[in-house]
Amino acid sequence: MLKKNRVMVCLLLLWTSQVFTATAQRKSISQKVDSVLKLMTLDEKIGQLNQYNDDWKATGPVTLDNTKREQVKNGQLGSLLNCVGTARTRAWQNIAMQSRLKIPLLFGQDVIHGYKTTFPIPLGEACSWDLDAITLTARVAATEASASGINWTFAPMVDIARDPRWGRVMEGAGEDPYLGAKIAYARVKGFQGNQLGDTNAVMACAKHFAAYGAAIGGRDYNSVDMSDRMLWEVYLPPFKAALDAGAATFMNSFNDLNGVPATGNKYLQRDILKGKWNFKGFVVSDWGSISEMINHGNVKNQYEAALSAITAGSDMDMESRCYKNNLAQLVKDKKITVAVIDDAVKRILQKKFELGLFDDPFKFCNADREKTALNDPEHTKIAREAAAKSIVLLKNQNNLLPLSKNIKTIACIGPLIKAVKQNKGFWDVEVPGVDSNFIVSQWEGLQNKLGATTTLLYAKGCDIEGNNKDGFAEAVDIAKQADVVVLSIGERRDMSGEAKSRSNINIPGVQEELLKELLATGKPVVVLINAGRPLVFNYTADNAPAILYTWWLGSEAGNAIADVLFGDYNPAAKLTMSFPRSVGQIPIYYSHFNTGRPATNDNYHNYNSSYNDESIFPRFEFGYGLSYTSFQYTDLQLGKRQLKPNEQLDVSVTITNTGKYDGEEIVQLYLRDKVGSIVRPVQELKDFKKIRLNSGESKTVQFTIGKEKLSFYNQQLQWVAEPGDFELMIGASSRDIRLKGNFELVK
Ligand code: BGC
Repeated sequence: MLKKNRVMVCLLLLWTSQVFTATAQRKSISQKVDSVLKLMTLDEKIGQLNQYNDDWKATGPVTLDNTKREQVKNGQLGSLLNCVGTARTRAWQNIAMQSRLKIPLLFGQDVIHGYKTTFPIPLGEACSWDLDAITLTARVAATEASASGINWTFAPMVDIARDPRWGRVMEGAGEDPYLGAKIAYARVKGFQGNQLGDTNAVMACAKHFAAYGAAIGGRDYNSVDMSDRMLWEVYLPPFKAALDAGAATFMNSFNDLNGVPATGNKYLQRDILKGKWNFKGFVVSDWGSISEMINHGNVKNQYEAALSAITAGSDMDMESRCYKNNLAQLVKDKKITVAVIDDAVKRILQKKFELGLFDDPFKFCNADREKTALNDPEHTKIAREAAAKSIVLLKNQNNLLPLSKNIKTIACIGPLIKAVKQNKGFWDVEVPGVDSNFIVSQWEGLQNKLGATTTLLYAKGCDIEGNNKDGFAEAVDIAKQADVVVLSIGERRDMSGEAKSRSNINIPGVQEELLKELLATGKPVVVLINAGRPLVFNYTADNAPAILYTWWLGSEAGNAIADVLFGDYNPAAKLTMSFPRSVGQIPIYYSHFNTGRPATNDNYHNYNSSYNDESIFPRFEFGYGLSYTSFQYTDLQLGKRQLKPNEQLDVSVTITNTGKYDGEEIVQLYLRDKVGSIVRPVQELKDFKKIRLNSGESKTVQFTIGKEKLSFYNQQLQWVAEPGDFELMIGASSRDIRLKGNFELVK
C-alpha cells in the first residue's frame, strides 16, 4: 500500500512538473519579463539602462572606469559596446553570470557596412538600388557579427542627407525619402533575418532619431531647425519603414530639433515613436548624448539631463552615466516614478528574451561558428558583387570603357591605386585576430584580372593631400609608355564619416592637377574617384574621358573595379544624392519646390530663383548613372486618365536594350502633384524597377499607383490625397525624363 502511494506521489510529481514546464513554455515573453522584473531591485533595474564602452576604440570621450567588472557582477550594467569576438564577449558574459539574477549582457557594435567582410559604404551600396543585394550584405554582416559575439548592430543609419559637407552622408542611403525608406526596410530585414532568436540574427538599430541629417551647414552635431512638414515628409519615412520592418531598437541623435535636443525630445520619442507608431522596442541614446544636453544649454546638470532623457523616452544611456548616477535620486525625489524605469527595463529585457539570451547567454559565443562564419568564401563573392553594383559610371566618352583585356600596357597611377585599407571606408570593424588588410587593392584587382600579356606600370604621382608634385614626372613618364592610364584619386577613408564635415569638398590636394598633366600626354585616362560623399570635381568632369565613382567598396574593391573596367560587369548604379558643382549650391536636391519665380535654364537670371554666378543644375543629378549599353523607353501606357481614391492606376512602359552589351537599367517613376494645399515638389520618386535586359531585348515594366503614392501631409499633418491633376514622369534619372503622362485624382 505504502509502495503504491509512493508510486502515486511520484506520478503526481512528474505530472505536476510536466504541467509546470509546459506552462512555463507557454508563458509569453512579456510574462517572463514581468517575473524577472519582480525580482529586481531598483539598483538592478537602473543597471539595465546603462551601456558602457569596452576598453578600446571609441567614437566619443571615454569615461575611465576601473569598476566596470564589479558593476557587471553587481548587475549594474545592461550592455557593452565595442566588445567583439567570442573570447572577449564570453569573458564579459561570464562575469554577468556571476551577478545575482544572471541577466545577460547585450553586445552592441557599429556593424555599418560589414563585419570581417567589408561591403561598400552604405551610400555607395544605395546606388545599386538593389534591395535584395542590400538585404543580403546586411544578412552576411549579421551572420559574421553574430558568430563573433555581437547581438546588436547600431545600423542602419537612415538619416536623409542633402548636404555633402556632412561627413556622415556616407552612412546612409542619400537624399530621397522614398528610396531611403525602401533601403531602411531592406537593411533591417537583412540584419534581423527571419526573426530575433535565430542564432545568426542581430538586433537592428534605426538611427539617428531624428533629423540628424539636416545639421545646419553640414557641420556634425549641429542644430536642426525644420518645419513639421519637412520632418514628417522627408526625414521620418525611413524611420517608419525601419519600424515596419521590425527594427528592435532605435538610437536617438546628437542634434537639437527646433531647440529641443533629440535625446530629451518627448515629441519625437514618446509622442511619435512610442505613441503614434507604437514602437515596442527600446531607444538607446547616442554616445554621451544625455549629458551633452548640458552643453546644449537645455538642462543644468546631469541630474536634470537624466530626468529629461528618461521622461522623453530614452531607455538606455550610452556611456554618459547620467542614469547610473541620478535615476535612483530622481525616484527618491519623486521626479519620476518607478513605473517609468520599469517601462524602459521591460523593453530591454523583452529584447534579451527575444534574442534567446536568457536560454543561452553564450549563444553568440561559439568559437567554431566564429571561425567558419568569418572564413566563408561565399561572403567574399557577395562582397565582390555588391561592390560592382555600387560603382557609378559618370562619364564614358567615345565608349572608352570597357577596356580590352588585350591592352599591352596600362599605367596605374594615383595615391589610391595601391592603397589597401583606404578601400574599407569609415566604420570598419577591427575584428580580433583578423588581418585588417584583408582587402583586394585596386592594383591587385587589375593584376588578378589580366594575363601575362598585359604590363602594369605603377606610379603614385602624388599624395591625397598636400602640394607636393615631385611624383608628377614619374607618373607622366609611365603614362607615355602606356596605352591607357587608370588614375585612382579621391578622399582618404577618414575624410568622410562621423565628425568629418568639410567646408571644401573638392578632390583634395594636387590630384586634379596630376590628371591635367596626364591628359596632356594625349593618352586616354580613366579616372576612379574614391570617396565617402559627393565631391566637387569640375575639372575632372569636364576633361577626363571616363569616370567611375567607386566610393569605398570594401574587401573586394579591387576585383570589383577590375570587373567593371574590363566589362565583366556592366555598371548599372545610379546616384542617390545630387552632386553639386560647387559648395555654394548646397543644399541641392532634386525634389525641390518650384517657387513663385522658377528658373528653368542657366541663361536667364533676371529676378528668378537662381544664382547669378552658378548653374541651377547639379553636376550629376539624383538617379544618374550610365551603362555600357543604352536603353530606349517607349510605349508609356496609363490604365486610365481618372482614378478615384480607392482605385489603382496601372502604368506600363517598354524598355529596350539598344546597345551592344547585356545590362541592367533602373527605371524610375516620378510624380508631380500639380496643385496642393501644401506646395508639392517638382518631382518625387514614387517607384522604381531594376531590370536586366540582354542586348536587343525588350521588357514591359509595370507600376501601380494608388492613393498612398498620391498622399502627403497637409497643414494639419494629416496624410491626405487631394483630388486634382498629376504629372507622371518615367526616366533614367531625375533629369533624364524619357516619357510623360497625366492623370487626375477625382473624388
Ligand atoms: C555615433 C553613433 C554610433 C555610436 C557608437 C556615436 O558617436 O553617432 O552612430 O553608433 O557613436 O559608436
